[in-house]
Amino acid sequence: MSAWGNGAPSQEGKARKNPIARPTELAALLMAQYVRPGDTVVDATVGNGWDTVALARLARGGRVYGFDIQREALERAEVRLREAGCPVAWRAEGVPGLMDGAPGETTEAFGVQGEAPRLDGAPGERPGNEAAACGETLLICADHRRMAEYVCGQAAAVVFNLGYLPGGDKKITTRADSTCEAMRSALSLLRPGGALIVTIYGGHPAGKAEREAVLRLAGELPAEEYHTLHARLTNQGEGAPEVLAVVKRGIHR
Ligand SMILES: C[S@@+](CC[C@H](N)C(=O)[O-])C[C@H]1O[C@@H](n2cnc3c(N)ncnc32)[C@H](O)[C@@H]1O
Repeated sequence: MSAWGNGAPSQEGKARKNPIARPTELAALLMAQYVRPGDTVVDATVGNGWDTVALARLARGGRVYGFDIQREALERAEVRLREAGCPVAWRAEGVPGLMDGAPGETTEAFGVQGEAPRLDGAPGERPGNEAAACGETLLICADHRRMAEYVCGQAAAVVFNLGYLPGGDKKITTRADSTCEAMRSALSLLRPGGALIVTIYGGHPAGKAEREAVLRLAGELPAEEYHTLHARLTNQGEGAPEVLAVVKRGIHR
């Protein structure tokens, strides 16, 4: 585990988190700023599911689409979501059926592209659903470059936590080219006022090139369409995690 943690929420006490010491806390703070009950959100790198749970809580009554290329990660996230009392369903990669032997007992069939998942109607249209503790999460074992094939409607936030699965195979990591392609897709899915939030780890071999590519992409976005923020710990060396936030300009109505 790095000096900045493994993605798990800080143990310092729920009331007093330190978003400066831990970039994941800063990312969480930004998520809370941009996600409201009933929203549609995307976790582009589910991993162990910490961000997925946080998003599901913020988007109660809404929907979370969670992507990862590793089934192991999604299974861990499913456990974490269930422990948090959040409804979960699985979607097979690229086909209208289910993953073979998908874990959990409540696996549901989901529609093909453009069709809303059928838990019980579209989020936000269900009376009283805002009182739910969590949004419903759809776990998708697919590359995040394909998110536009799965996500219905516009997203209030798309979240990336780059790098490898903590406690998993360090050779399986996000990569510069595919991350940038997925980020472009995420930007097109964002609603006006929506946020793309990326936690970047430049301290591992693939991470350095990825960091440069991601920051280049953000730096080239047109200022009349996006506000961008890059936050880094300036006294912690080059490998310290960083946070990038891109907000699509405009007002959500
Ligand atoms: C740093 S972990 C994410 C941690 C997670 N946010 C959490 O809260 O525990 C990065 C994850 O990205 C996944 N990943 C790597 N390349 C991917 C891709 N092209 N599409 C989707 N997920 C990918 C990895 O399998 C890994 O689980």
